[in-house]
Amino acid sequence: MHIRRKLLLPFSLLVACPAFGYSFAADQTTLTLSTVENATPLPNGLTLTVSGAAMQITALRPDVLRVRIGRGGALPEDASWAVLPAARTATSSVQQESNADSVGFSTTALHVTVDRHTATLRVTDLAGHLLQQDYRPVEYHGNSFRLYKQMQPDEHFFGLGDKVGPLDRRGMAFTDWNTDTFGYQESTDPIYKSIPFFISMSGGRAIGVLFDNTWRSSFDFGKELVDAYSFGAPDGPIDYYLFYGPTPKQVVETYAWLTGPSPLPPLWSLGFQQSRYSYESQARVMEIANRLRTDKIPADALYLDIDYQKNNRPFTVDTTRFPDFTGMIDELARKQFHVVAITDLHIAYLPDQGYAPFDTGMAGDHFVKNADGSLYIAEVWPGPAVFPDFTRQQSRAWWGTLYKDFYKEGVAGFWNDMNEPAIFKVATKTMPDTVQHRIDEPGFMSRTATHLEIHNVFGMQNTRGTYEGLLKLKPDQRPFVLTRASYAGGQRYSATWTGDNSSTWNHLRLTTPMLLNLGLSGFGMSGADVGGFAGTPQPDLLTKWIELATFQPIDRDHTAKGTADQEPWVHGPRQEEIRRRYINERYRLMPYLYTLAEEMSRTGVPIVRPLFLEFPAAAPDGHPIDLDAGGEYMFGPDLLIAPSPYPDELDAYDLQLPPGEWFDYWTGDKLDRTGHIISRDAEQPKLPAGAGQPIATPATAAPTPMPLLIKPTLEELPVYVRGGSIVPIQPLVQSTVETPKGPLTLRVYVGENCHGTLYQDDGISFAYRNNAYLRVESTCEIKNGELHIHIGEHQGTFQPWWKEIAVEVYGWRPAAKPTATANGKSLTPSVAKNTVTLTLPDTGKGLDLLLH
Ligand code: GLC
Repeated sequence: MHIRRKLLLPFSLLVACPAFGYSFAADQTTLTLSTVENATPLPNGLTLTVSGAAMQITALRPDVLRVRIGRGGALPEDASWAVLPAARTATSSVQQESNADSVGFSTTALHVTVDRHTATLRVTDLAGHLLQQDYRPVEYHGNSFRLYKQMQPDEHFFGLGDKVGPLDRRGMAFTDWNTDTFGYQESTDPIYKSIPFFISMSGGRAIGVLFDNTWRSSFDFGKELVDAYSFGAPDGPIDYYLFYGPTPKQVVETYAWLTGPSPLPPLWSLGFQQSRYSYESQARVMEIANRLRTDKIPADALYLDIDYQKNNRPFTVDTTRFPDFTGMIDELARKQFHVVAITDLHIAYLPDQGYAPFDTGMAGDHFVKNADGSLYIAEVWPGPAVFPDFTRQQSRAWWGTLYKDFYKEGVAGFWNDMNEPAIFKVATKTMPDTVQHRIDEPGFMSRTATHLEIHNVFGMQNTRGTYEGLLKLKPDQRPFVLTRASYAGGQRYSATWTGDNSSTWNHLRLTTPMLLNLGLSGFGMSGADVGGFAGTPQPDLLTKWIELATFQPIDRDHTAKGTADQEPWVHGPRQEEIRRRYINERYRLMPYLYTLAEEMSRTGVPIVRPLFLEFPAAAPDGHPIDLDAGGEYMFGPDLLIAPSPYPDELDAYDLQLPPGEWFDYWTGDKLDRTGHIISRDAEQPKLPAGAGQPIATPATAAPTPMPLLIKPTLEELPVYVRGGSIVPIQPLVQSTVETPKGPLTLRVYVGENCHGTLYQDDGISFAYRNNAYLRVESTCEIKNGELHIHIGEHQGTFQPWWKEIAVEVYGWRPAAKPTATANGKSLTPSVAKNTVTLTLPDTGKGLDLLLH
């Protein structure tokens, strides 16, 4: 039955709002989409009329559906800021499957049905496993709508970017509205980014949902109703993509197919980065640079926060405090530092004062306007400011040209902050809803949209202007852009960080779920202010934070104005020594980290990963094992990082190891999985009685994860390596610009499916696209009591820095004195406590090693 209930107003209104300067069709009635009135097969899906609304379900690929609904009888505009045109227009043929009760189709991966009587949509895999089912018909209240889906008792949700709170979103509700939230806390929502994408895991199967609506959307994962999750928005299109794994990694890869992966970052951006708000003079910047070098703390980047500018005006330099800006950049480059300069999007409102960004922006009509056509002016860091209309391609192109001088002078990267956009002195902290944006973008109709529609994509389009502008200025240099606000797909243009966190132990704990969910949501290049932004960290907190950030994609120490110094050397030599050890380790692991970054740029699989991404089938019932594993996560496929779930406590905590064999990263010892205390610090206080005893585990429990107890120490962040991995390590350097001296080390951790990849290139340019890269695939295997190691031949034309490879083998003990052959020639390996090492020339033609 066609239900069309009348709400407050008995008729549809066409409202003209002269005060706001725009009109919109506001049908204030409630409309429930409950009756299929008409269904027309398409080669790639179905078009339906449902209770008067237009609906289309199409297959972009056998495992990717797109659902669009338009209330007024026409489908919404076929356009997107998030989804790549190639994916959005992809089609896959389907087989129609309709009967008296339902209409639908199948692909080679999915069955799709719409119930004729209730119009509810149901999607299963070919084996009949339910993937998604409408909980009730779609309902509109005026332009606002909400879609309810059944929630399974074992269903868990991940994604939505860096929203605060636990890794699993089940039981929580969220809003997408980019917001400047200095000092946010665990339950603050919304914060800076809107990424309306989530992964659901149920019964060991994963699906992804991208709800491509830029308005103030919201998500509820079983908070309102115990057996339903929902998403909706106050306006805009019903346009969502539903895609199937079954593994969560496939879902993440498909999300990258839809929205694009993050590009390969410049190598230096993976080094240690030192920042603060602000290094206020050239002398202070040089002092920091020199201290990093004399204290031998490896580092690659220094940040210039707003105070390098004259009166906080973007694209200016305060020449009193920075008398020789260009000279400083040059000198820093000689010391192997890259400079990242902040360039906020608000342009100071300075008519007739010779401020080129304002003058040229006005001349090109590039700034957003009020509803009455006047310039929108609001207060931010520079005082009164105006704002580029980043939804216009020509305004983005103009914005890109503003980087010309800084980029020419050698500033290596740019930091786009305050781009929610943040506005001071107003309760909403942002632009009025009525501000006008003149969309001029392929795919979209050229039209004027209000800020309500554009707000959540404004920051993303800001970074797009920056990224594309930098590319234009230096076409063979990989841009580095760091942003605070963004939308789905924004990873194509920028790395990101989690905004203004605080120097508290709880915030240290929160960084892990935030970065993991960001990574699942496309933003694999991400970090949190190391040490915390608001406030001053206690010495141990800064040390623990530096330890953790070693194993995160972006490692940037940053703090607010007015806080104490936060560089690694503050708090004395003992703390500095520990911090240096970790930063050193990051540089030793650089070949591994860079290989991860390259994988991310091809597949979308992030650098830091929840355990379930690598071990989706670890639990017998298919639940994500992260739910039992405190703060653990994977740094790439091979390293498991196990910080304390309560980092300020000295209590021992459980380590949950996924199935398989594991090694202690720091000692190379293979772990005894019957359970014991893992600690090497004799000075630590005695544990409570019983804590050191082996944990009873049933003999039959394998491959169920088995807990081990970790006794935390200040000096150690527990890290484990998966048996069966081959991890590339390089000699210590002080920056990624320095050429390592000595052999490349391949650490072979013997175990099942033993393999490893190494990727290298020049770290700067796009030459890798023309074959100027190096890829080496290695494997190992035990056969008849002999260990076979195969190091593949060099793929690509890039010449690496090493001449020799040191193969370090862990977890393999020959019965007698070991002997070895390399490509058939005998060699004598050196044997230490738990390793066997062979150093060999790397001819690039591949190596076959045999250890007896
Ligand atoms: C914002 C940023 C912060 C920066 C400050 C000054 O608060 O989030 O990182 O230091 O502005 O630019």
